[in-house]
Amino acid sequence: MRPATMFSTRTRWDRRANRLARLLEEKRRAGARVLDLTESNPTKVELRVPGGLLDPLAAPGGELYEPTPVGLPSARAAVAADFARRGVTLEPDRVVLTASTSEAYAFLLKLLCDPGDEILVPRPGYPLFEYLASLESVGVRGYPLAHDGSWHLDVAALRDAVSPRTRAVVVVSPGNPTGAYLKGEERDALESLAAEHDLALVSDEVFADFAFSNDEDRVTSVARDGPALAFTLGGLSKSCGLPQVKLAWLAVTGPAARRREALERLEVVADTYLSVSTPIQLAAPTLLRRREELQGPLRDRLRANLETLRAAVGPGSPASLLEPEGGWSAVLRVPATLSEEDRVARLLQETDVLVHPGYFFDFPAEAYLVLSLLPTPSTFAPAVERLAADLVL
Ligand SMILES: Cc1ncc(COP(=O)(O)O)c(C=O)c1O
Repeated sequence: MRPATMFSTRTRWDRRANRLARLLEEKRRAGARVLDLTESNPTKVELRVPGGLLDPLAAPGGELYEPTPVGLPSARAAVAADFARRGVTLEPDRVVLTASTSEAYAFLLKLLCDPGDEILVPRPGYPLFEYLASLESVGVRGYPLAHDGSWHLDVAALRDAVSPRTRAVVVVSPGNPTGAYLKGEERDALESLAAEHDLALVSDEVFADFAFSNDEDRVTSVARDGPALAFTLGGLSKSCGLPQVKLAWLAVTGPAARRREALERLEVVADTYLSVSTPIQLAAPTLLRRREELQGPLRDRLRANLETLRAAVGPGSPASLLEPEGGWSAVLRVPATLSEEDRVARLLQETDVLVHPGYFFDFPAEAYLVLSLLPTPSTFAPAVERLAADLVL
């Protein structure tokens, strides 16, 4: 039968601008200075990159191309050393380099799933999963995260979400947008569930270095040779605030035979693309060694904005802050007297402040707002002041 169009159904997205995007466009066209609390690009929020930090990208050696599908040994060793800093001992040959965490997800979906299979993803959670999976002809099913003062993995609900087509469970620690870290008991339950149903665990730890407090119950990483095959993802885009340099990784842990087979297969996937540039691989050891120079100012920014937000929605405010344990965003619960979309639209229309509605992250109920903690204080502080004033109307 002739296909209805020339293009794949995978790319049949509704590409029309939604109401909020149209409103934003109108605002900007009219010359408004929009205070954008959805900004999550660390290169656009006046964070200073130390002088010369990116010089290693021009290091000698970068002119030579010697394809190494899973990455140069020196770069893989630097990633393994970064895991060691977090208390995880890994041989460098467990590490596969990719251009981004998104690409690491794409590799894993190719490794683990056939078309029509499913992965389980946290709800609320990162909206890109839907796209990453559907581009591989894979479905996503949400499993709920429950909030009762802090966020918890609902293991019973997760178990219920497993179907015969499920191939992997994705966890994000700390979560986006929840900011919650995975706890030791949750990790154990996840490993058992994954081993029992022959599922892989995929742990996205891109925000792991951005904690607001310490908690002994948290796991620093899912990476360990437990009963389940596990893939732990990280990258410079978040850990160093350098999305433009395009370097990420995944580390493979779990039972030895499974691990070996996964690495062999991943090597062929990576060899098919060879997407990580030589200059960034050569620069990786230096950038990872100097990560604190980048993480320090980022952490200060996140903390300062979180403090401002706490003060703005303190006692007497109709909004409550769902205290994040870490990460780059904050969630506010707000009165459901307006739909999230109407509230966000009104806020933008009347006050020139832009925030994300909770539904963007697939919160199971209304009404939540999600704010990036990255913007400059000169944007963030007046924006939350206007937001707090609007909430009492
Ligand atoms: C949870 C999570 N994982 C991965 C990414 C993407 O990272 P990368 O730039 O390495 O693809 C993001 C970006 O916002 C994210 O929030």
